[in-house]
Amino acid sequence: MDIVVLEDPVAVGAAGADAIARWVEERTDGALGLATGATPMPVYEALVHRHHDDGLSFAGVRCFLLDEYVGLSTRDPCSYARFIRERFANLVDLPEDHVLGPDGMAEDLDAECRSYEDAIAATGGIALQLLGIGANGHIGFNEPGASFGAATHVEELTARTRGDNARFFPPGTTVPSRVVTQGIGTILRARRILLVATGPAKAEAVVRAVEGPMTTAVPASALQRHARTTVLLDRDAAAMLQRPARPERRP
Ligand code: GLP
Repeated sequence: MDIVVLEDPVAVGAAGADAIARWVEERTDGALGLATGATPMPVYEALVHRHHDDGLSFAGVRCFLLDEYVGLSTRDPCSYARFIRERFANLVDLPEDHVLGPDGMAEDLDAECRSYEDAIAATGGIALQLLGIGANGHIGFNEPGASFGAATHVEELTARTRGDNARFFPPGTTVPSRVVTQGIGTILRARRILLVATGPAKAEAVVRAVEGPMTTAVPASALQRHARTTVLLDRDAAAMLQRPARPERRP
């Protein structure tokens, strides 16, 4: 893993957007994997600026979301499908049918998981995957204990993750307990991974993921076995790292 420590979340967003913009301009095949949650927002904001100011075009790019809540439709304001449309896809020139997420409303969720894997494979696989990290070390919605080899599957959320994500739901609403998520095996098949983490609440998950033992108790530690993972951190998220990180440089 390549660890890059930057000043603040805006700098992390700019560095993440640089790497994605370079891939968009130079890509030859494969798709872009998109993450939801608050941390990647500065990345998307920087990409939207590059679209408007520098003409960066996403017109031919195919995108896949990591995960979705079971029972939420793509129109639900709390769904990840809607989140990504409103915060990124609709703000650039991405055709609507180029952004796919798992269907949380599918009657047969296992069949949906299989067809989601097929759809990713049909585009040539994920060339570049943007990832956040949960406070308990989860990636996508792969909670502690998830198998490192798993494909897209239905996962039961921990109380901690539901609590952490309650801020994205209106007060009084219950956070769904089940989700469809790309598995860690799916994520590890991405040819390049860019994990972003900012703020003190992520410091412990970050140190366990990058310096701790590789263990299913810390899903993000699976990335230690991936050949091309870059971890972009701000100073707060990097605060518990023991090994020296590289000085600021282009990821
Ligand atoms: C959710 C998402 C993850 C995300 C995590 C952290 O659980 N499924 O993909 O990385 O939240 O989100 P945040 O960046 O808002 O802390």
